[in-house]
Amino acid sequence: MLIRVDNLAKHYPIAGGFFGHRTVGAVRAVDGVSFSIDRGETLALVGESGCGKSTTGRLLTRLIEPTAGTVRFDNMEISEMDAGELRAARRRMQLVFQDAGSSFNPRMTVGALIAEPMHLAGASAADCKARVQELLPLVGLAAEHTDRYPHEFSGGQRQRIGIARALALRPDFVVCDEPVSALDVSVQAQVINLLTRLQREFGLTYLFISHDLRVVRHVADRVAVMYLGRIVEIADKATLYKAPQHPYTRALLSAVPAHRPGAVRKKTEVVGEIASARAVPSGCRYHTRCPYVMPICRTEEPELTELGATHSSACHLVQTSH
Ligand SMILES: Nc1ncnc2c1ncn2[C@@H]1O[C@H](COP(=O)(O)OP(=O)(O)OP(=O)(O)O)[C@@H](O)[C@H]1O
Ligand SMILES: [Mg+2]
Repeated sequence: MLIRVDNLAKHYPIAGGFFGHRTVGAVRAVDGVSFSIDRGETLALVGESGCGKSTTGRLLTRLIEPTAGTVRFDNMEISEMDAGELRAARRRMQLVFQDAGSSFNPRMTVGALIAEPMHLAGASAADCKARVQELLPLVGLAAEHTDRYPHEFSGGQRQRIGIARALALRPDFVVCDEPVSALDVSVQAQVINLLTRLQREFGLTYLFISHDLRVVRHVADRVAVMYLGRIVEIADKATLYKAPQHPYTRALLSAVPAHRPGAVRKKTEVVGEIASARAVPSGCRYHTRCPYVMPICRTEEPELTELGATHSSACHLVQTSH
């Protein structure tokens, strides 16, 4: 196991009152999440916009501090690391963002962008240059691209630059936060193939964030479905797609268009808008949208409960029928 999180939470205070000086509540962006990822494995994290996926990714890589809960990385509790240990751990954990290009400094060359993390870590100019020449072909770019500027590249190529940059320090763990969501469908597959090839080659461990279950189907070993700051179902990929149990997972899956043209699919649309992380519903947070809601769902929050060796779900209905 490379990474394990327990009861992880991130709450943001909501300022209120006339001058905004009072705290009137909290956005429960992540609200008690536990899972682990094995070395070399890809865990996909899926859910609608605002359910807390990116916040989870940032908590894991310690870009933000949790309100509660723990993160263990390679058997070390992150909050107990001293400054040197934390710096070393951070190098081993990197992020690939959606539309990496928009965050690049437009005045930096591709070579400088890719080398920046190494440069900041104190590597010599010669080492940086050598590493860039090593990385460019690995991500499918040419050596001569090093002196060009990011605006000269397509979205897919800019994602490749972002991936090279994330790999510069030879990380073990990479959070891929919607890495292909801003790309044309035709380019998505290429970038996903690149990520899986790099994973095999370097034994990388991925947390792969996406709102799209279709994208995740090709890359995930296991899938965790998130709703309003909580994991409602987690399973190995085959089980999740073949025998989803949580009504929310089923609704998300039925929203995925069928592969065969003309294939008929029973629709269980996700009904209604996602409730707000600012005012999380009582009991099961999904009860306001669930077609199977029972009285207990309005009052008691269901725990994530094991249904099988690699399958857990947090749903009263599933738990009573099992
Ligand atoms: N710095 C912040 N301050 C206040 N609220 C925040 C902050 N960051 C995130 N949130 C809120 O926390 C919730 C979760 O946000 P997050 O970005 O993790 O969602 P997400 O699942 O990544 O969504 P998307 O699919 O749109 O990227 C949202 O309600 C968001 O508005
Ligand atoms: Mg996000």
